[in-house]
Amino acid sequence: MAFATRHFVRTASTATAAAKKLVVKHVTVIGGGLMGAGIAQVAAASGHTVVLVDQSDEILKKSTKGIEESLKRVTKKLFVDKPEAGTRFIEKTLKNLTTSTDAVAVVHSTDLVIEAIVENQEIKNELFKRLDKFAPEHTIFTSNTSSLQITQLANSTTRQDRFGGLHFFNPVPVMKLVEVIKTPMTSQKTFESLMDFSKAVGKSPVSCKDTPGFIVNRLLVPYMMEAVRLFERGDSSKEDIDVALKLGAGCPIGPFELLDYVGLDTSKYIIDGWHSLEPNNPLFAPSPLLNKLVKEKKLGKKTGEGFYKYT
Ligand code: NAI
Repeated sequence: MAFATRHFVRTASTATAAAKKLVVKHVTVIGGGLMGAGIAQVAAASGHTVVLVDQSDEILKKSTKGIEESLKRVTKKLFVDKPEAGTRFIEKTLKNLTTSTDAVAVVHSTDLVIEAIVENQEIKNELFKRLDKFAPEHTIFTSNTSSLQITQLANSTTRQDRFGGLHFFNPVPVMKLVEVIKTPMTSQKTFESLMDFSKAVGKSPVSCKDTPGFIVNRLLVPYMMEAVRLFERGDSSKEDIDVALKLGAGCPIGPFELLDYVGLDTSKYIIDGWHSLEPNNPLFAPSPLLNKLVKEKKLGKKTGEGFYKYT
């Protein structure tokens, strides 16, 4: 009986430990581009130790410089009358941040991997498969992908229960939302750890299943494509459509302004991917006008011309 009680207590405490959520302290962000640098910044600013990984020291130098400049902007707003506190905040944040070109070498001591590399299934799969061999058992893997299936990425590893999506928004230090994606294989414990981590970096997380576009892009991309179709049919001008949505629907910017901001190539990439998944869905139909502009390298603000010209 005594043995049985001891055995029960031991089993119960092991079960409690197993069910306990992971509190993320050490983060590895892979990809130091637009999104990765922003994610590394907010994670370091909220007290996590962060290693930012990219392919070369030159890229990482650029990422760090961008983070420093962004931190100065944030600090100016946060510490209006306390410049010294602002300086201390920047120093503390940068102390939490290191960089590396070797993901395998740094992943052994991390609680959470956030992947934000190029939007390519094969390259992401290859990366996760490699890291899976070197990361500790408890480490949670996540992707910031906008258009790929989290389930397919998780299947390139042996830790499908410790794999989810963390979809941040651009620019990361400004946008408050994170979509936390739970696949059918993501454990409840992993999901809760990701929700907690999102809150810890100062964001408001929402949850969504692993469905194309998650919440925001699933609604936003078809909306922008419908605006392009309205314009293509000659029903209204792009200027009037933008004015209509701003003044009639309270949108801060119109759909064509938004398309130019996001990048026409990005929107085309997303819609083409969904169209190949669901060819009969009219909301996912490609647009000849969008395709033409992308072919002409008119990709929006970043190239100086998209639907509008930027000089
Ligand atoms: P980006 O092109 O600015 O940055 C990608 C970075 O990854 C580059 O610095 C590149 O050198 C690096 N990289 C590529 N392969 C690598 C590898 N094997 N190992 C280490 N580093 C590697 O791209 P961006 O815009 O930051 O997007 C990254 C991810 O975030 C994509 O999956 C994208 O779908 C997603 N995303 C993008 C948003 C946006 O507005 N740009 C919004 C939300 C998600």
